[in-house]
Amino acid sequence: MKEIANQIYYVGVNDRQKTLFENMWPLPYGVSYNAYLIVDEKTVLIDTVDVCYSDLFLKKVAEALQGRTLDYLIVNHMEPDHAGSIRLLRQQYPGVKIVGNTKTFGMLAGFHGITDGLYEVKEGDTLNTGVHQLSFYMAPMVHWPEVMVTYDATDKILFSADAFGTYGTLDGAVVDKDMDCSHYWDEMVRYYANIVGKYGNPVQRALQKLSALEIQTICSTHGPVWQEHVAKAVGIYDRLSRYEAEEGVVILYGSMYGHTEQMAEVIASALADQGVKRIVMHNVSKTPASYILADVFRYKGIIVGSPTYSNQLFPEVEAVLSKIELREVKNRLFGYFGSFSWAGAAVKRLAAFGEKMKWETVGTPAEQKQGMTAADHAACYALGKAMAEQLKSKA
Ligand code: FEO
Repeated sequence: MKEIANQIYYVGVNDRQKTLFENMWPLPYGVSYNAYLIVDEKTVLIDTVDVCYSDLFLKKVAEALQGRTLDYLIVNHMEPDHAGSIRLLRQQYPGVKIVGNTKTFGMLAGFHGITDGLYEVKEGDTLNTGVHQLSFYMAPMVHWPEVMVTYDATDKILFSADAFGTYGTLDGAVVDKDMDCSHYWDEMVRYYANIVGKYGNPVQRALQKLSALEIQTICSTHGPVWQEHVAKAVGIYDRLSRYEAEEGVVILYGSMYGHTEQMAEVIASALADQGVKRIVMHNVSKTPASYILADVFRYKGIIVGSPTYSNQLFPEVEAVLSKIELREVKNRLFGYFGSFSWAGAAVKRLAAFGEKMKWETVGTPAEQKQGMTAADHAACYALGKAMAEQLKSKA
C-alpha cells in the first residue's frame, strides 16, 4: 500500500485492458483511475474507480483500513471512470456518508439510485477528520457540472479530480519524483485535448480560484501524483486552457488516391524552406483523431486539405473537423486546400469551417482538379509560404 503523505494512501488501480478511453481515445500506455484514502480519526475515501476494477479496489481499501470502517466518501467527480464503484462500496460500508454538492447528488440518484446518507457541501465548506483539515471548492465543467476539488490544508494537497490528469498507467511508483515522467507530458496534452479541451474558460476560472491555495501536492484522478512537477502540470493546463500555441504547423488532410496528399507535401516543403521546423502531417484516415487534436491544441498554424467526396468534404476530414469545432479551439492561423475530379466542393466547405471557428485565414486556398499541374504546385507552395510568413510575424 502506497502512503503518499501522512495517513494518506493511494488505493487507485491501473487499466491495462481497455484499448480506448471513453470508447474513443487510444490508450497505448493505459490509464489509471486514482483514489485516495485518509486514515485519520475519521476515515475518508476520495473517489472510487471504474466498476470493472471494483473487486481489486475494494480489497485495497479494506487493506488500508485495517479493520476500521469507512466514515466518508468524497465524490469529486461523478463520471463512471471514478464513480463506477460507489454502489458496491456502499454495500460494503453501509454507514458511509457520501460527501458531494447538490449536482453530485442528482447524478448519484440517477446513476446509482442512492439518495440517503448524504453530506452536502458548498463552496469553502470544511471537514475536519482529526489531523487533516479538508475544504471543498466547486470546479463546474472541469469536466462535468458537478465537479469539485478537495484541499487538505494540513499537508497542502489538492485532490483535483480530472484536472492535471494524464493518460498512462502508474508502473510501480505513484509519485512523480519516484519515476521517469517523460512520456506523461505528451499524454497530458492529448488527454487535455481529448477530454477537457472544450472547457478552457471553466479551467481558467478554476485555476484562478486555486491560485489562492498553497499547493505542494496534486492528487489527480488520472496519472502520477504531482509533487516535483506541480508547476509544470499547472502550467500545461494553464497554457492549453488559454488556447495558447507553439510556433509550428499541423497539416491534416484526407486523400483517396494521393492527389490531396501530394498538395500537402508541397505545402510542407514550402513551410520547411521558410524555416518552420515544427511541421506535423496527419493523414486523417490513418492517424486517430485523438493525436490530431493534441497537435491542434499544440500548434498555432492549422492547414486542412480535403478531396471533394460526393459534393461534400471527405468524410474522414469532416469527422476530425467536427471534433475540433466541438472543442472551440481559438486563435489559430488557418490555411486550406483541396482537390476534386469533376466538381469542387471541399474548398468552399473548408472556407465555411474557418469562418465558423473565427480563425485568421492565411494565404490563398489551393484547389486542384485531378492531377497536379505546375500552377497547382505553385499555389500550394504559395500557401505554405504565406503560412510561414504569418507564423513568424506573430512570433
Ligand atoms: Fe476521469 Fe471526467 O472523468
